[in-house]
Amino acid sequence: MTWLITGGAGYIGAHVVRAMTEAGERTVVYDDLSTGVAERVPDGVPLVVGSVLDGARIARALTDHGVTGVVHLAAKKQVGESVELPLQYYRENVEGLRVLLEAVTAAGVPSFVFSSSAAVYGMPDVDLVTEETPCAPMSPYGETKLAGEWLVRATGRATGLATASLRYFNVAGAAAPELSDTGVSNLVPMVFERLTAKAAPRIFGDDYDTPDGTCVRDYIHVVDLAEAHVAAARALHAGPGRDLTLNIGRGEGVSVREMIDLINAVTGYDRPPTVTPRRPGDPARVVASADRAATELGWKAKHDVQDMVTSAWQGWTHHHPQAARA
Ligand code: WQD
Repeated sequence: MTWLITGGAGYIGAHVVRAMTEAGERTVVYDDLSTGVAERVPDGVPLVVGSVLDGARIARALTDHGVTGVVHLAAKKQVGESVELPLQYYRENVEGLRVLLEAVTAAGVPSFVFSSSAAVYGMPDVDLVTEETPCAPMSPYGETKLAGEWLVRATGRATGLATASLRYFNVAGAAAPELSDTGVSNLVPMVFERLTAKAAPRIFGDDYDTPDGTCVRDYIHVVDLAEAHVAAARALHAGPGRDLTLNIGRGEGVSVREMIDLINAVTGYDRPPTVTPRRPGDPARVVASADRAATELGWKAKHDVQDMVTSAWQGWTHHHPQAARA
């Protein structure tokens, strides 16, 4: 099998390439390097620099490398930015996906794994979110991921393409310091940034209907997430015509305050957080039921939040050496 990993030079993509390679699969990375970093692509793994909107370049990559499966991670993923730039998000995340699927089906590639998101659920009013929980995305980013799932599913049904859409919950951690997330758009790096600046971490609202009043999320280690992609790729290769939609989470809720307390302990900064007003659009609780991924893929997360925060901090201090001194 040879898998084309779009976005394979990104934070999550690089972990997927690493996991697929360690599992003995051949990989080729396709990335426009707009946010990806070429140094993340391991020696021996070909890198094709290009946009998902460039159908001709994708078609060449598929045939030049004898691609037999695609894992599509390349997308714009900042919720706040998507509100300001919906046209860019729909172009990259939906039109880009359409162009890619056109090339994939024209080349007769049989398997397609799609990076979706828990953002498709919006504000689910349930204790555990299952794949049957109604989807009501609250941002253009979440809308593009839900529309992407529809496009993938419809293409699979029309052409026989075997597909899996993986709904990522809150991703954190790193397999190695040099692979850590260099973006600062999610809780863990945002708290690191505050601590490094000797400023108090911020809790966006503590008046939610949760045990400690702060939002509860399902954090998933990026290494576990990458393993889920390997399991999904193999499941599709084993059973043509599959059409899977799976939550990729741990099934365990952790509150913002609990995460900040853990980050303070791991980093040694121990700086009490301040509470600021709620961030618009934040649901009180989004925690996955991961039962279907266990049943369909035999996959289950192995790492806990301590592993995530510890490895993320090792990555942060790798990129910000001055931060190591609490
Ligand atoms: C988590 C919680 C904040 C920073 C995102 C996106 C998307 C999706 C899931 C991939 C929220 C709170 C944050 C801070 C805080 N992943 N917070 N202080 O919004 O749950 O979802 O990840 O598709 O990326 O939808 O993640 O990390 O932004 O916030 O209190 O300094 O932490 O209010 O409750 P979110 P997040």
